[in-house]
Amino acid sequence: MDAIQLKQKAAAKAVTYVKNGMTVGLGTGSTAYWAIQFLGEKVRNGLDIQCIATSKQSEELARSLNIPITNFSNVIKIDLTIDGADETTPNRQLIKGGGAALLREKIVAATTEFYIIIVDEQKLVNQLGKFKIPIEVVPFGYESTLRKIESLGAQAKVRLNNEGSILVTDNHNYIVDADFGLIDDVDTLHKNINEIVGVVENGLFLNMASLVIVAYADGTIKELK
Ligand code: A5P
Repeated sequence: MDAIQLKQKAAAKAVTYVKNGMTVGLGTGSTAYWAIQFLGEKVRNGLDIQCIATSKQSEELARSLNIPITNFSNVIKIDLTIDGADETTPNRQLIKGGGAALLREKIVAATTEFYIIIVDEQKLVNQLGKFKIPIEVVPFGYESTLRKIESLGAQAKVRLNNEGSILVTDNHNYIVDADFGLIDDVDTLHKNINEIVGVVENGLFLNMASLVIVAYADGTIKELK
């Protein structure tokens, strides 16, 4: 199976968990894209849901498919969210934010009862940290914030967009990508990063995922729960 088929396979499995009447969180990225497409199909066939998106991009996609969109003034809890990840361990610890949507993704995840992550087998690792940790920082003084992130033991760079200027998130912030190497103590690192003034949130998603659906190149699927 090629990369797109794997994403489709994991996404198709995830949407089987979506039931009538649910409030559903919509993830961001090339895997979550397929989940949104499949949900659009189900909505067209009568599925009654309302959704909260984790990025402007996913919200636009959902609206284009006539998926009803709501917001946090109307919603106290999200029943289920489907999102991708950049890395996951077998016990469902994640790195997210490769698509620069980590802050909204984490806010949605933190309000979600059943948080489903969909990945292909290449994202499955025994130890987090090969993928640099995306960290959302406020633009003011970001050079100083970046140096403080580096002082925790990382090589860090502010993320640029395709035109070579600093990438600006949906929340008007910047992303710093921090390479800590393989991480031995994710809980301490998570805490230390978020204690730096100027950091809004980081891409370590710890103890949040209820279920990780992994699609393998041989066509099989594994559910990590
Ligand atoms: C978006 O900010 C990310 O957290 C994505 O969920 C993550 O990067 C996975 O994206 P892909 O499914 O495109 O690999």
